[in-house]
Amino acid sequence: MADMRVNLAGVALKNPVTMASGTFGFGREYGQLYDIDRLGGISVKGLTPRLRAGNPSPRIAETPMGMLNSVGLQNPGVDAFIAHELPELKKHDLAIIANISGSTPEEYGEMCEKLSAAGVDMIEVNISCPNVKAGGLAYGTRPELAAEVTAVAKAHAAVPVMVKLSPNVTDITEIARAVEGAGADAISLINTLRGMAIDVNTRRPILKMNTGGLSGPAVLPVAVRMVWEVAGAVKVPILGMGGISSGADAAQMMLAGASAVAVGAAAFADPMAPLRVLEELEAICDRQGLHSVRALTGAVQPW
Ligand SMILES: Cc1cc2nc3c(=O)[nH]c(=O)nc-3n(C[C@H](O)[C@H](O)[C@H](O)COP(=O)(O)O)c2cc1C
Repeated sequence: MADMRVNLAGVALKNPVTMASGTFGFGREYGQLYDIDRLGGISVKGLTPRLRAGNPSPRIAETPMGMLNSVGLQNPGVDAFIAHELPELKKHDLAIIANISGSTPEEYGEMCEKLSAAGVDMIEVNISCPNVKAGGLAYGTRPELAAEVTAVAKAHAAVPVMVKLSPNVTDITEIARAVEGAGADAISLINTLRGMAIDVNTRRPILKMNTGGLSGPAVLPVAVRMVWEVAGAVKVPILGMGGISSGADAAQMMLAGASAVAVGAAAFADPMAPLRVLEELEAICDRQGLHSVRALTGAVQPW
């Protein structure tokens, strides 16, 4: 069987399949269904300096081959995470990636300090949330702001910093280069694509926030293209996500240049999806006679 271990900017993962932020909570619910230790890692629900209730409902809508969400970073706040959720997660044998969102660079710095001291394995700096008014997407669409947040996070973090990019830009390589230049140890992409759905009878948008973020199988080709572009533009490792629901999808993402992958919306349709993705990826490696899953990374043969 192929060696499934990968390394993401110094963080050892027993396999390349992780859970995308916001789609797995803090692991408690899925932990009742199966042994989450089989996964390589978990990126926890986006944390903010203080508790957030999130946006009003409806904030989830099913769309063709995907979903829209406008959850808006509902979370207990970084201190409650450290006190109540992290100790539970640490009982598991998987990499803990703390996903953070701030309204100012200082807030990112403050959370990096607290989370490093609390012993997470990696920090994922979300500069790409389309569902919050302050910060969020503004940082992810402007290279100079993305670089500023990255530099502050790096200055305050004692663990590797991964910056999560938004697909809601014209040229994602520009942002990728900016965060690499500011010291990012890894890059994750993609966050959700801004979208909208309208109820024809009421003539109201389906989401209370009017717009939301699109994810699920519909976005896979966009994500694969963007991972491929970013892989050609930077040297830091990439965590690829967006629309992965099978081992072949994960393999595509790795061939495009990702060192590891994350499964998100697919777990809403099928809670077992992350494990299935892993098993199918293992089967692909074996069928292709690979000694290591790492052989897939960046191995696409463009025409
Ligand atoms: C309900 C929901 C909540 C999300 N919350 C977060 C979040 O808190 N922080 C973040 O960085 N990304 C968040 N995301 C984005 C996912 O982590 C992922 O980047 C995106 O959904 C694309 O992957 P997918 O198509 O496999 O879902 C969320 C996505 C969904 C569907």
